[in-house]
Amino acid sequence: MEKRFENKTAVIVGGASGMGELTARKIASEGGRVIIADVNGKAAEKTAGSLRASGSCAWGIPCDVRLREDVEKVRDFALEKTGSLDILVHTAGGASQRMCNAPGPFAERPYEVLDWGIDVNLKGPLYFARAVLNTMLKQERGVIILLGSIDGVTGSPMSVDYSTAKAGLIGLTKSLALIGAEHNVRACCVSPGPVLTRPGMASMKTPMNRAAEVREVVDVILFLASDQASFITGVNYLVDGGRACGAQEYPR
Ligand SMILES: NC(=O)c1ccc[n+]([C@@H]2O[C@H](COP(=O)([O-])OP(=O)(O)OC[C@H]3O[C@@H](n4cnc5c(N)ncnc54)[C@H](O)[C@@H]3O)[C@@H](O)[C@H]2O)c1
Repeated sequence: MEKRFENKTAVIVGGASGMGELTARKIASEGGRVIIADVNGKAAEKTAGSLRASGSCAWGIPCDVRLREDVEKVRDFALEKTGSLDILVHTAGGASQRMCNAPGPFAERPYEVLDWGIDVNLKGPLYFARAVLNTMLKQERGVIILLGSIDGVTGSPMSVDYSTAKAGLIGLTKSLALIGAEHNVRACCVSPGPVLTRPGMASMKTPMNRAAEVREVVDVILFLASDQASFITGVNYLVDGGRACGAQEYPR
């Protein structure tokens, strides 16, 4: 089996479930050391424990991406345990109306819910990027992968704060790419359409008439995080089954 991540340390933020968890598992299976940081510290440690049981180097650590001190703690933990920080994958996030159980139109959504949407989906990645950048620049190597969304490209009437935050990640990615370029530090955003991390996503429309398997997004994350993508930086990579093409109907 190919071992693209041997001798590399990857921090997976939001790695306790969904795309983050599969990313952590796959990086570990290809020889990487993984630090799984998640607000659900117990689930993060459970995943890390199962990876250790199969011979990988893995740690779980509680982290709320809204708290700068938690973010810096994760960076310091990675450096203390492994001596390097080569890959950051920031998957923590989600639509605030779902995560905070606040359906209803944008103009009636409580400000606290909007704050959650921006804090977790935009400020968290911003804090993490700031926290790890100097380490990567000094190492003269590193890659930052941020999880955006199709909503950041098309807009979304139901997920205004989410769409705003995810669009912001594209600017963050480009800015990081420009800072890191001459130091062999890359940054990429991956923007999925609907992904089957939960059953509800199966009903979302795409021209391909289905949602993505989790693996279909994670394979792109892994490619971009690996040296196979060594000349790719500053991009927003859509994995959306053609949804951003913009058609209103998909005739069959
Ligand atoms: N699933 C989809 O259809 C889809 C589509 C487009 C984009 N995305 C984006 O991809 C990313 C991953 O999605 P997923 O479906 O795998 O999500 P998920 O809900 O399965 O996993 C998200 C993880 O983030 C963690 N998290 C939540 N708040 C946090 C916080 N404050 N600090 C630290 N960790 C926190 C959760 O505990 C969870 O483990 C998200 O950013 C999401 O917005 C998902």
